[in-house]
Amino acid sequence: MISMEIRSSVAGEVSRMKKCIGKVPGLAVIMVGQRWDSQIYVRNKIKACHEVGIKSFVTDLPTDCTEAEVHNALLRFNKDPSIHGILVQLPLPQHLDEGKVLDVLCLEKDVDGFHPLNMGNLAIIGREPLFIPCTPKGCVELLIRSGVEIMGKKAVVIGRSNIVGLPTSLLLQRHHATVTVIHAFTENPEQITSEADIVVSAAGVPNMVRGNWIKPGAIVIDVGTSPVEDSSCEDGYRLIGDVCYEEAVNVASVITPVPGGVGPVTVAMLLSNTLDSAKRLLDFT
Ligand code: GUN
Repeated sequence: MISMEIRSSVAGEVSRMKKCIGKVPGLAVIMVGQRWDSQIYVRNKIKACHEVGIKSFVTDLPTDCTEAEVHNALLRFNKDPSIHGILVQLPLPQHLDEGKVLDVLCLEKDVDGFHPLNMGNLAIIGREPLFIPCTPKGCVELLIRSGVEIMGKKAVVIGRSNIVGLPTSLLLQRHHATVTVIHAFTENPEQITSEADIVVSAAGVPNMVRGNWIKPGAIVIDVGTSPVEDSSCEDGYRLIGDVCYEEAVNVASVITPVPGGVGPVTVAMLLSNTLDSAKRLLDFT
């Protein structure tokens, strides 16, 4: 399993760091409110940190907290030398300005790669971002490790969010794919996807991508995670993807399931970005 390979290599490096300089990477997570899905994501991230030897710290703020409270939590972690990565779990409650919050985040600790300077450096040819956002990096890692050639291929990204769609389209271009972005106002999306060699779907619309949207033999990466009520599940919900799996599995050559496809690789990328950040800040090679 690809996420396990990445995790075990991070664990090896964390233990080498501890042996050589007596320090381990530290990740801080700021969580505002109690969204059901965010709580699961944060829980998974913290558990994964623990399993590879990365120290983690969570600041839980109430849904109605002020922007100043979020800023103060961030400033504290920005200054703390035992913290090498900081992430603010998104989305934030509506009354908080996401842009203003991300502006405060120390660029060198922005392991999600959401700071505008990181995103700008990802977009500009000839510049290198300090961090590549975890989900896009995970999608490309899945393609590369599965032996899929990206260069010259037609790739379609469904969705243009700051977290997934936008950075995924930029990253696929860096890997020399010909990229088309589909969004809510796109006409005939199924015609565009049916010509693509690689489809990455991050729309958040359950079962939107049907079997006839896919070119036979295409690679399909489903990043969608929409909650649907299911009383038989522990949390009362389960997550379903953007792609109608039962149909697409008969057409695509490779397809990632939800849950269990991209999610674990996203978490592995967060661990890897946190390790890289600690190495850079501690000057450890
Ligand atoms: N919300 C959904 N995905 C992510 C992610 O990768 N990072 C953060 N911070 N929030 C998210």
